[in-house]
Amino acid sequence: MVELLPSILSSDFAHLADDVAAAERGGGTVIHVDVMDGHFVPNITLGPPVVKSLRKATTLPLDCHLMIYNANDYIPAFGDAGANWISVHYEACPHLHRTIELIHNHGMNAGVVLNPATRVDVLLDILPMLHHVLVMSVNPGFGGQKFIPFSLDKIRRLAEIRKELGLRFRIEVDGGVAHDTIAQVVQAGADLLVAGSAVFGFGSAEQNARELLGAARVAAGEAGL
Ligand code: DX5
Ligand code: ZN
Repeated sequence: MVELLPSILSSDFAHLADDVAAAERGGGTVIHVDVMDGHFVPNITLGPPVVKSLRKATTLPLDCHLMIYNANDYIPAFGDAGANWISVHYEACPHLHRTIELIHNHGMNAGVVLNPATRVDVLLDILPMLHHVLVMSVNPGFGGQKFIPFSLDKIRRLAEIRKELGLRFRIEVDGGVAHDTIAQVVQAGADLLVAGSAVFGFGSAEQNARELLGAARVAAGEAGL
């Protein structure tokens, strides 16, 4: 089932609760929270205190995308703050198996994120432990960037591996997902669709979310997904 994950990175942080509520009315079912440390990526955003406030503002699952080094030092705090899903970058976690166990020990769903230049196959051994794999379709750090087309091949490859190995992890895509790209990512096999600027960047977040989800569902229907 395709789901829309509004990314609050492009929302108005002074009106976060209202923006999240609007995206939820438009059909968003998981809130995507971008955590950046200014080291792994060239931008700084937010941490556990904001997640704690968000937790009070919505009942939707909070999907925390950690674009940080030393994730192990912060995972417990995100768990305490009310995060439900934690995604860590393959490129930032030298002891990935340990990190995933830590996420599980704190009662959260674990996912691994791949930068555009990282091959899908590096995850083969660890896939059975994952709730989701997040394919970055832009270089992480900023909203509003252009979708990188070869991400579609990576999504297709993941869908293929999932089928071959009989696994159940979900395939998430993040970056440049908008009205002109959403059908392609769904047809390639992604079912968790993160969208920031396409939801919050202009006009009504509620209407934008509704239209994106509508387009995704049409594409899924056409592809028999
Ligand atoms: C980028 C973030 C994304 C960002 C996507 O590093 O991980 O979640 O919000 O923004 P858009 O949808 O505008 O490309
Ligand atoms: Zn993200």
